[in-house]
Amino acid sequence: MSEQEIRKGLAGVVVDYTAISKVNPESNSLLYRGYPVQELAAQKSFEEVALLLWKGELPSEAELTEFEATERANRAPDSRVKAAIDLLPLTCHPMDVCRTATSVIGANHPLAEDSSPEANLRKAQELFAAMPAVVAYDQRRRTGLPAVPPREDLGYSANFLWMTFGEEAAPEVVEAFNVSMILYAEHSFNASTFTARVVTSTLSDLHSAVTAAIGALKGPLHGGANEAVMHTFEEIQSTGVDPAAWLQDALAQKKKIMGFGHRVYKNGDSRVPTMRGALEKMVEHYQRPDLLELYTGLEEAMGTAKNIKPNLDYPAGPTYHLMGFATPTFTPLFVAARITGWSAHVMEQAASNSLIRPLSAYNGVAERHL
Ligand code: COA
Repeated sequence: MSEQEIRKGLAGVVVDYTAISKVNPESNSLLYRGYPVQELAAQKSFEEVALLLWKGELPSEAELTEFEATERANRAPDSRVKAAIDLLPLTCHPMDVCRTATSVIGANHPLAEDSSPEANLRKAQELFAAMPAVVAYDQRRRTGLPAVPPREDLGYSANFLWMTFGEEAAPEVVEAFNVSMILYAEHSFNASTFTARVVTSTLSDLHSAVTAAIGALKGPLHGGANEAVMHTFEEIQSTGVDPAAWLQDALAQKKKIMGFGHRVYKNGDSRVPTMRGALEKMVEHYQRPDLLELYTGLEEAMGTAKNIKPNLDYPAGPTYHLMGFATPTFTPLFVAARITGWSAHVMEQAASNSLIRPLSAYNGVAERHL
């Protein structure tokens, strides 16, 4: 195999069809099952979007009511999951907690070895319902606070914020959170989704696929970037220099600036304007114009220096910060959202499976003998 045939990082390689979402870099658009993500974010709840991703159509009122009942009934933190989390040190990353919790949930699932479409949908819905308790409990235990029981009268986003902070969030905060969950829900064959599909292709189970996907999402070139954005902001603030000066220095040191650039979008991430809108609302709600100034300053400087545009993680990081989430919790929030996309891909892969097993070109020492 010649050198030219190897596409490092599978860049530009189309590996399969998907009917779940369409990323169109030319028009900077993203469709979930045909609907522009901006329209969904403006008009739908995350619960409705989850059903759309799983089933291909937006739910009827009756379907939504039924799913909401399932979701609310599966929110309470499982004692076995809590016990497993308590075994993990506070020094570990919250993504390790999500990964472990998913594995424990899978191991205890009554249909653990059943990967039928019905079992997979049930597992996806239950995991969707269970993850907020995991994320919220972990953030709270790290500051010595007890778990907050879920509230059945609240929707997914309001309850997530309730379980994390122990107080009801303002409607505009719930709305911004809902928007972030929808924008993070799905993005075709990104690294973690592809990981989930590879695991599924071996006929392994949904929880194994999601556990592996969480591992892939943890890295700073993928989901970890939303946390890294906040570290960048903190560094700029602590050094007291303006964003352009900080950037010049960082680029001189050949640093990658987290929250900028994208493998597919080279002309701007389709999700950024909507997420930036949510950030602006939070800046107003929490009265933090300084953060937006920093955000805009670095964005402009990056545009001038490299002509590289922000990706979704850039506005999402400071939005979650303003809401009160600890920085290491940002990527677990991405997990809670992306469970929808991952599990939709698990079901799609399982429905038309072919073992994913690429080839490699050997470039080690030539054959030799003992
Ligand atoms: N900061 C600085 N330079 C960047 C950059 C960034 N965030 N993103 C891309 N570039 C530069 C690269 O250094 C490279 O420059 P060169 O040609 O002079 O070597 C060029 O742009 C192409 O980048 P490359 O890394 O080859 O693109 P890619 O498609 O492989 O990478 C990412 C895409 C996302 C991995 C990359 O943009 C990145 O590391 N971004 C930061 C992490 C991040 O925000 N991830 C979340 C993605 S949603």
